[in-house]
Amino acid sequence: MFSVAILTMSDKGARGEREDLSAGVIRALVEQQGWRVGDYQVISDDYKGIKETLVDMVDRGKYDLIVTTGGTGLSPRDNTPEATRAVIDKEVPGLAEAMRMESLKKTNRAMLSRAVAGIRGRTLIVNLPGSPKGVRECLEAIMPALPHGLEILTGRGGECGSH
Ligand code: MTE
Repeated sequence: MFSVAILTMSDKGARGEREDLSAGVIRALVEQQGWRVGDYQVISDDYKGIKETLVDMVDRGKYDLIVTTGGTGLSPRDNTPEATRAVIDKEVPGLAEAMRMESLKKTNRAMLSRAVAGIRGRTLIVNLPGSPKGVRECLEAIMPALPHGLEILTGRGGECGSH
């Protein structure tokens, strides 16, 4: 069982002007795996705030996985990938590649998400797009490999040879 935090980036959501349907999709998919969601926050798209919240979730919360939603596109207020890059030690490009590869089969707009994934300490951070549909498609694309990746990252198992 892994511990998970969900972080939604949305100016409107943070002001209470938009219901956050995407976090519920993440929660359902994560709980299907038997993992526990220990924190959930909705914050604005401010670069500094995203960075600080991610650092706090990793360093204080010690979550195994942080799934973010929103702020990955081309608007001037989309800062999630830059804030994520600023706090990770190592990038895990295959996760973002897999998300875009699978998503492109569904919509050519998938190429507009600049989502990244990476490791800070023993926590994996994964950016997802903002829409509930995008969240589902992207998370389903990487979910088959996540348990093994998290086992290796957290030191809780992990022989890579058997697959
Ligand atoms: N990926 C998938 N799988 N499905 C989608 O519907 N929407 C795209 C893209 N990625 C989408 C997707 C769209 S329309 C945009 S603008 C970008 O994600 C960025 O979204 P964001 O700014 O909400 O993060």
